[in-house]
Amino acid sequence: MISLLPAHADLAELDDEALAAVYAYPDDLAAPWVRVGFVASADGAAAAAGRSEGLSNAADHRVFVLLRRLADVVLVGAGTVRAQDYRGARRPTIGGSTPPPIAVITGSAELDPGSRLFTDTKVAPIILTLPTAPAERLARLTAAGADVVVLERLTPDALLAELAARGLHRVLCEGGPAVHGQFIAADAVDELCLSVAPLLTGGTAPRISAGPDGALPRSMRLVSALHEDGTLLLRYQRDTPIG
Ligand SMILES: NC(=O)c1ccc[n+]([C@@H]2O[C@H](COP(=O)([O-])OP(=O)(O)OC[C@H]3O[C@@H](n4cnc5c(N)ncnc54)[C@H](OP(=O)(O)O)[C@@H]3O)[C@@H](O)[C@H]2O)c1
Repeated sequence: MISLLPAHADLAELDDEALAAVYAYPDDLAAPWVRVGFVASADGAAAAAGRSEGLSNAADHRVFVLLRRLADVVLVGAGTVRAQDYRGARRPTIGGSTPPPIAVITGSAELDPGSRLFTDTKVAPIILTLPTAPAERLARLTAAGADVVVLERLTPDALLAELAARGLHRVLCEGGPAVHGQFIAADAVDELCLSVAPLLTGGTAPRISAGPDGALPRSMRLVSALHEDGTLLLRYQRDTPIG
């Protein structure tokens, strides 16, 4: 048994620059790299009262903000956007002048054009949807300032091809569990950044991924483990080559 990785792993000891180095994406990405970010309770809940805020704390929030600042795009399912009343990211990316856009996966396009996603953002949200979404909804979202993209499929490969075409390679997927489950099933998760908060929730909360049974477990390698006030900040990377 060994101590936490890396050797000096107390989050409070790391300044912002050192923390950014811990979470750096690989250099010179030629294709999207999917980093998934979640917070969970110690008994595995991904939400408290339907939202993740009840699980978060200062340490998780510090890493949450940093992960956004390191990303080219924040990819998230419409379920999470609706449950958490998402707004645009606030802080500019490191080395950039604007925050990353929020890219929302939605088959229904059932998003409120008056919600914070559209009214409280510095960059246009990207709405990734299907030809079956009602045209009037798409028109309302476009009028609200969104960049609406209609794709034939919302599979991980189709979504990532669209992001790649835009040069958005550093992908931060903020879930939710349904989206995460699809990316795991498609073997499209390169990295998982997981905050484990020192809480027990009980109840019927979701896990951090959901989907059909049957996929073989994906092997991941623990590449860093930080700690602050009882919260573990774990970073796993895929252990096997893609494909
Ligand atoms: N602990 C954490 O860090 C964390 C992070 C994120 C979320 N959460 C929690 O997770 C819950 C929400 O998660 P969720 O699993 O219900 O929702 P989700 O994964 O955020 O979004 C699911 C929605 O995304 C769209 N979608 C996803 N894949 C699609 C596909 N292949 N084709 C068409 N549409 C697709 C659909 O939207 P439409 O219905 O619009 O078609 C679907 O209903 C909330 O309680 C939230 O607080 C927790």
